[in-house]
Amino acid sequence: MKKHYLLTPGPTPIPPEVAQKESLPILHHRTSEFSKIFMNVSESLKEIFQTKNDILITASSGTGTMESAVINLLSPGDEILVASCGNFGERWIKIAEAYGIKPTVIQVEWGKAIKPETIEEALKANPKIKAVYTTFTETSTGVVNDIEKIGSIVASTPAVLVLDAISGLGGQKLLTDDWKVDVVVAGSQKGLMLAPGLAFVSVSPKAWKLVESSKLPKFYFDYKKYKKSLEGKTTPFTPAVTLIVALEESINMIKAKGFENVLKDASLLASAARAGMKALGLELFAEIPCEVVTSAKVPEGVDGGKIVKKLREEYGVSIAGGQGKLKGKIIRFAHMGYIGKADLLVGFACLEMVLSQLGYKVEKGKGIAACEEVLLKGEAPVPANAGV
Ligand SMILES: Cc1ncc(COP(=O)(O)O)c(C=O)c1O
Repeated sequence: MKKHYLLTPGPTPIPPEVAQKESLPILHHRTSEFSKIFMNVSESLKEIFQTKNDILITASSGTGTMESAVINLLSPGDEILVASCGNFGERWIKIAEAYGIKPTVIQVEWGKAIKPETIEEALKANPKIKAVYTTFTETSTGVVNDIEKIGSIVASTPAVLVLDAISGLGGQKLLTDDWKVDVVVAGSQKGLMLAPGLAFVSVSPKAWKLVESSKLPKFYFDYKKYKKSLEGKTTPFTPAVTLIVALEESINMIKAKGFENVLKDASLLASAARAGMKALGLELFAEIPCEVVTSAKVPEGVDGGKIVKKLREEYGVSIAGGQGKLKGKIIRFAHMGYIGKADLLVGFACLEMVLSQLGYKVEKGKGIAACEEVLLKGEAPVPANAGV
């Protein structure tokens, strides 16, 4: 028997109220009962996305909806720009290439943020670029990009801005319309406190023009089908009924708390996590840390893989390690959705023990004390761009 604490940046823990909804008998999707829930969820998501655009809901993981944002906007031979600063930015490149699109790439060193000016320069250098694909919170490194600035740059050109907000939505302030983000993709298993399996996309009027002319092959993910069905208060195919019913519950919980307060909490936890890492002598990895996941470098002489494994196997605490070239080099603590103050403290207490077991000199209680101090103050004394 082991109690589990899920502190990974997706999937994230699910509130019991939401889990209960996931176990209810299945509703048929062509009923007024389901349509009511579906429309309620679709409308409410607009508030979370901060947009007036329709939100299209598909059954897939986040990557599916990233793929949808490639095949629905582009045609063979189109030129696009991918601005990447981590593993998920690179996913845009792989998806585009899978469909024969050869992107121009801005590749930023992992751990650094994308410089908006580089996007401006790339768009100036190639006015044929139709779309800019980038990432909001780069979960693999813990960096947040300046989407407000990038949005204003792209909006002054004919190109559209496509944003992977799969881990950021619901945990970090994102103003889709005000920041002029044309397409935003997100998933269910992060800030929205739901099981994996649902994906969402917001499409601006500017992006719809590309959808109308797009010629890449598509069927299941064809936005036009989802839009037409939405007008009839339904979905084109059998939706993930259970997840949509549960989503209504998690959205109700977010509304009851107040979306602003949800974001404030994530920000406070992020601040506490940064303070905790620094107190343990761990260097923060992200140049500009996001508020949904905190990454820190694994100390010299310690095996990063072992930290993650020991935490999970001996203490039941799941955190994330590094991905790809960062494997073994960083650890990542999530603090989005249903992860609370107590979860974070448990995580840091166990991290201290594991580090000490692995031979790293740590003054026990120092990390937790630093977290507590931030949490008690209830404000964010560690600036978001502090580094170490
Ligand atoms: C920023 C980001 N993009 C894309 C993905 C991929 O989403 P999925 O694993 O749901 O396909 C993730 C998942 O962790 C993510 O955090």
